[in-house]
Amino acid sequence: MSSEHRDAITPHGGAELVDRAVPAPERAAARAHAAKLSVIALGARELADLEMLSTGAFSPLTGFMGEADYLRSRDDLRLANGVPWSIPITLGVDDAGARELKPGQEIALATDGGSRIATLKISEIFRVDRKREAEAVFGTADDAHPGAKNVTSTPPWCVAGPVALFEDVPGRTFLEYPREPRQTRAAFRELGWRRIVAFQTRNPTHRAHEYIQKAALEICDGLLVHPLVGETKGDDVPAAIRMETYKVLLDKYYPKGRAMLAVMPAHMRYGGPREAILHAIIRRNYGCTHFIVGRDHAGVGNYYGTYDAQKIFDRYAHQEIGITTLNFENTFYCGKCGGMASYKTCPHADADRLLLSGTKVREMLRAGQAPPLEYTRPEIAEILVRAMRASS
Ligand code: ADX
Repeated sequence: MSSEHRDAITPHGGAELVDRAVPAPERAAARAHAAKLSVIALGARELADLEMLSTGAFSPLTGFMGEADYLRSRDDLRLANGVPWSIPITLGVDDAGARELKPGQEIALATDGGSRIATLKISEIFRVDRKREAEAVFGTADDAHPGAKNVTSTPPWCVAGPVALFEDVPGRTFLEYPREPRQTRAAFRELGWRRIVAFQTRNPTHRAHEYIQKAALEICDGLLVHPLVGETKGDDVPAAIRMETYKVLLDKYYPKGRAMLAVMPAHMRYGGPREAILHAIIRRNYGCTHFIVGRDHAGVGNYYGTYDAQKIFDRYAHQEIGITTLNFENTFYCGKCGGMASYKTCPHADADRLLLSGTKVREMLRAGQAPPLEYTRPEIAEILVRAMRASS
């Protein structure tokens, strides 16, 4: 029996975590073999997908999707075999690239700089309609939507097949933190945590985050603060600054042994409800049993309803997703309550509440003004003011 079976939760869609990393003793041979193959260069987002695939974070996927999985995930939020999956994972190539490849062929995957790091055995090459994909996944093919823009600017041919990674994906950051599902699963076993709640984030942390994390922690053994550290849109706060904020919060405001900080190398798709499902599935693979979905999870602009990312889980039977979602209403500081609250728990008027939008906070920071402690902890306000000063 593999060690994974003693974990609190099995990986998504199968009993074993996918592992597409070439074992260390075989890496030299894989490297020599890949040197002889035709090569496709990957951008930052594809490298992030490759890393997610090879570590099992995208279990049960073993590689970039074939047509049946692509179509069904796009149209029905499932893989061809029925397992829930809400966003296609593809490797795009242009017409010229597609003409040179054929099914059955093995190719090398490289960085922009040309270093070969993985191989892919081509199972299929198929053409897709990227506009239709964006409309299905994001509800829009609008260039103003960062995720839709990334999809519509991806070339139309998809090269599918299982991957095998023989070099670490270059440019990885925050290596002092757990990064792979096997690492977090081992840590949870070590700590004896059985009910583990994961928190996805792409923003600097604030009191609402802390409030919902701690509310969840009241009914769980441990909390995984799991920031996404892959590519985000230009005006999001860089991961290095965000990481400082999470670290300070955990050091100063959480009991030792109850919360863990780890990083998630995926890129942000801003897919709202569809991405919430993907985020939940990924956290199951990292060994978490519960997943927080708050207001406008993975949202951008006004593309999604405030609670769409919570409602979308109703389309599946609970056991299909496996991880339990913990939904939270819009949370804020209320002066009359004298603490954090939500529309569910606070009877007062909006005038009594501190309702700061991200835009408002950015304006304050640009003016060199620290957000109030009802919004974020003073140590975190300080990090943000300092970062804003350094960047302007
Ligand atoms: S996200 O794109 O990763 O969702 P963010 O880091 O802001 O953005 O949010 C992380 C998680 O906290 C998400 O589940 C989000 O819904 C939730 N969240 C953020 N702010 C609030 C809030 N004020 N009230 C309730 N939930 C919130």
